[in-house]
Amino acid sequence: MACVVYGGSRGIGKAIASAFLQDGFRVAIVARNVQHLEDTISELHEFTHTEDQLLRFSCDITKEQDVIKTSEHIHHTVGAVSILVNSAGINQDSLLIKSKSTNIEDLIQTNLVGPMITCRTFLRGMMQRKDGCIINIGSIVGQRGNAGQTAYSASKAGLVGFTKSLAKEVKDRGIRVNLIAPGFIDTDMTKGIIKRQELEKAIPLGRFGMASEVADAALFLAKSCYITGHVLNVDGGLNLNI
Ligand code: NAI
Repeated sequence: MACVVYGGSRGIGKAIASAFLQDGFRVAIVARNVQHLEDTISELHEFTHTEDQLLRFSCDITKEQDVIKTSEHIHHTVGAVSILVNSAGINQDSLLIKSKSTNIEDLIQTNLVGPMITCRTFLRGMMQRKDGCIINIGSIVGQRGNAGQTAYSASKAGLVGFTKSLAKEVKDRGIRVNLIAPGFIDTDMTKGIIKRQELEKAIPLGRFGMASEVADAALFLAKSCYITGHVLNVDGGLNLNI
């Protein structure tokens, strides 16, 4: 079975690609930065059984034509895609009063419109085969909000509505759509976070999560044939504080 991971060159996406590879899937990782993609291919090489089990594609999910062209390339080289993971995302913290329209647009385009475009692009094949599983990566802040992250939270809250609506649209087509809402996970995105100790105290499990722990949840959703339209929190219990 083939799986495509957008944002698969780093962090959570890379951990998801690694988990699916180790479970025997063919995996296509997609991201913008070619060097990061090359580095990830070398890093994950030890988990591949054949030359073509792990492939990389460079693409910007905010550019629809780029997504369509890449999806055709993926289809020809990897085959029919059964699992689509949308982990590509950006974060730019700013109070709304100080934020620029271009930053707001970038966040919404990348975190919300991007996954909508990738889903629409791969849906046609999934609908024809009546087989598909889509996993969107949202965030706990899409449920509880966070000062300094109005646009980011809005993009992730939008992704919840999108996931549930799409799950209803494709329920009769053999396609499931779910969302993972991570809390604080150790990746490049959270590297520069300030007041880490204070944040850790607020997390019921007392620590940041590992990208591999989000990957465990993605693999679980891929195999859970009776779950759709679900928001799965992987946040050390942070959602208990809502
Ligand atoms: P990261 O910064 O380590 O990796 C982001 C990935 O997205 C990279 O592969 C990058 O190339 C790709 N990407 C970004 N913009 C893109 C674009 N326009 N086109 C194609 N690829 C693009 O981030 P991390 O931490 O792995 O985050 C992954 C997802 O999880 C994001 O959607 C993020 O919002 C979400 N998340 C992360 C949390 C954390 O604590 N790290 C917490 C909650 C949600």
